Amino acid sequence: MSLNRPVIFLGPPAAGKGTQAKRIAERYHVPHLSTGDMLRDAVVRRTELGRLAKPIMERGALVPDDLVMGMVEERLSRPDCDGGFVFDGFPRTVPQAEHLQVILCQRGFGKPVVLELRVDRQTLLRRVAGRRTCSVGGEVYNVYDAPPKMADVCDVDGGKLIQRPDDYPEVVEERLRAYELQTRPLAEYYSAQGVLEIVDGSGPMEEVTRALAKIIDRAQGRDGHL
Ligand code: AP5
Repeated sequence: MSLNRPVIFLGPPAAGKGTQAKRIAERYHVPHLSTGDMLRDAVVRRTELGRLAKPIMERGALVPDDLVMGMVEERLSRPDCDGGFVFDGFPRTVPQAEHLQVILCQRGFGKPVVLELRVDRQTLLRRVAGRRTCSVGGEVYNVYDAPPKMADVCDVDGGKLIQRPDDYPEVVEERLRAYELQTRPLAEYYSAQGVLEIVDGSGPMEEVTRALAKIIDRAQGRDGHL
């Protein structure tokens, strides 16, 4: 399977973009492209990009567009992206979206399918507080809703589970502010193009995945099934 229309996830911190983007990418056998994961990886590897991005991410602000676009363009040039891809956390500003549109056009892809996950603030804060991430492989858990079999240990590789440094309350507030100011305008941008779909992201993970797959199947011209 492939995706002739790439998929973009929009939504505030902890709306479930990463959780759902992974599931959707697996379902359609295309890469899951998370700019947050790419930047965290650059920080761990101490690349030049990581060195520049680290303090910005630690205070919950957005990394400058030119740095993010360079990273994304490099990733999209790899052959595994030829059959489509699922973006998670990108684009996040109108200039990023405009630049992406040019790239998609150059590569012969159709208009993206943009899925905005809506979740109320109280649920977002609960999900942030409960999130634990494997320090080795990056697997994501939630102590309330998706706990590991053994406390603080990753089911997949036995790595230690940690809290993301940007999940501490004061940084989360800044990330929510950045979302409202810089990313929410994208909903209007994509709505004006007729490609925005709003999905309730507050239900159980399986239920949200089913709703998303139905929309994507329809947009790609397939019958929905899971
Ligand atoms: P990024 O990693 O993209 O962070 P984010 O957008 O704030 O999103 P999160 O990763 O917090 O949440 P999510 O929506 O993926 O939720 P998840 O599935 O994990 O970006 C981090 C930073 O990098 C940014 O602040 C910025 O500095 C920089 N950056 C990244 N991209 C950038 C860009 N394009 N431009 C500029 N800067 C950029 O779920 C959360 C928790 O809830 C988990 O524990 C999960 O298990 C649980 N959960 C998920 N779904 C459900 C459900 N349905 N029911 C119950 N629990 C659920």
